[in-house]
Amino acid sequence: MKKIAVLGYGTVGSGVVEVIDTNYASIAKKAGEEISVKYVLDLRDFPGQPIQEKIVHDINVILEDKEIEIVVEVMGGVEPACTFVKNALLAGKSVVTSNKELVARHGAELLEIARERNLNFLFEASVGGGIPIIRPLNQSLTADEITEITGILNGTTNFILTKMDKEGSNFDEVLKEAQALGYAERNPAADVEGYDACRKIAILSSLAFGKNVNYEDIYTEGITKISDIDFKYAKELGYSVKLLASSKNVDGNLYAMVSPVMISPEHPLFTVNGVINGIHVNGNMVGDVMFIGAGAGKLPTASAVVSDIIDAAKHTGRSIMSFWSKEKLEIADKASSKKAFFARFAGNPEDKFEAIKEIFGEVKLVKVQEIKNEFAIITDVMSEAEFEEAANKAGGMITRIRMGK
Ligand code: HSE
Repeated sequence: MKKIAVLGYGTVGSGVVEVIDTNYASIAKKAGEEISVKYVLDLRDFPGQPIQEKIVHDINVILEDKEIEIVVEVMGGVEPACTFVKNALLAGKSVVTSNKELVARHGAELLEIARERNLNFLFEASVGGGIPIIRPLNQSLTADEITEITGILNGTTNFILTKMDKEGSNFDEVLKEAQALGYAERNPAADVEGYDACRKIAILSSLAFGKNVNYEDIYTEGITKISDIDFKYAKELGYSVKLLASSKNVDGNLYAMVSPVMISPEHPLFTVNGVINGIHVNGNMVGDVMFIGAGAGKLPTASAVVSDIIDAAKHTGRSIMSFWSKEKLEIADKASSKKAFFARFAGNPEDKFEAIKEIFGEVKLVKVQEIKNEFAIITDVMSEAEFEEAANKAGGMITRIRMGK
C-alpha cells in the first residue's frame, strides 16, 4: 500500500480525497497497489467530518513519517507551498502538485531536485485542469520539435466570455457565478487579468522547448476591457473573442503572449466554450494536435492530480518527467510579431475611413447598425509596432483586439 499525504483541503484537496475514495479499487489496479490517504494538512479543523481523523497542522509530522512516499501539494500560492514541496523532495518523497504558480516559478529547480534523487515531481493538474497535456508533452510528442502551442488555458475567463457572447451576460455577475462553481482563483485578478493563463503557457513552453521561460517576460493582457459592444461587432462578423495564450517559434525566435483574440469559426478553438479549455499544439512531424476538456473545477482537477499520484506510485525509484533546464529561454520582442488587428474608432466612417485607409493600407470596414458614432476596421497582417504607430497617427481609437489566424 502507498501512503500519501495531501497538503490543503480546499476545492482540489477535497476532490483528491473524493476521487481516491470513489475509484479506490480501479486506482489500486492501475497503480499496482492500493493508494491510501494517511494525512491531510490544513490550518483548519473539520469537526464532525470523516476527514478530521487525518487532519494534521504540522508539516513535520508528514516529512518525518517514513511511510509517506508521495506528498500531494494542492494548497496553491508560492509560500509556504514551495518550502513544503522542497522539503518533501529532500526527505525522499515524490511530489504531485496542481500549483501553477509554484511550477511556473520554481519548476526547473524542483525538477532538478527530484531527478537527482530518482524521485518524481509531477504537475499534470497545473495546466488545463482535467485535460492531459503535461503527460502528452512529456511522453507522446517527444519525437517532435514543437513549433506552436496556442490555448484557452483559463476556465474562468472562457466561462465569462462565453456567457457574454452567447447570453449577453454582465461581466461581474458571471464572475461571481464562476467563483461559486469553484473555477476562479482566490484573487480573481489572476484569472481576469490573464496572469493564470500566463503561468500556464510559461509551463507548457518550458516543457516543450526544454529551457526556462520566465512568465514575467510574457506580455499579458486580460479580458477586463472586452465589452458587450466588442461582442456585437464579433457577432456581425460571425466571430468570437477568446482569451488565448500562445507561444510560437518563428525562425528561431520564441514569441509568447496572453491576450484576447477575435477568432473566426475556422479557428481550432472557436467551439471551445464555457469552462472547457482547449490546447492546440503543432509539432514539426505530427502536425496539428488538439486537447480539449474541463479546464477547472474540483473533480476534473483532482482527476489529473490522482493520475499523477498513480504515475508516481508506478514509478517509484525512477524519475519520469522530462527536464527543463534552468537556462533562460529568451522571449522575442512582441513589437515584431505579426497579425491582423480589429480596431474600433470614434466618429463616422464617411468622414474618417479614407484617412484611416491612407494610414493603415488595405482595411475592411465593419459597421453594426445599432451602434452609432463609431465604426471598426480589420487590418491586413502587420507587426505590433506598425499597428501602434498607425493607430497613434490615426487618433480616435476606442479599442483594439488582435485577430487570430
Ligand atoms: N482559475 C483557474 C481557471 C483554475 O479558471 O482556469 C484552474 O487552473
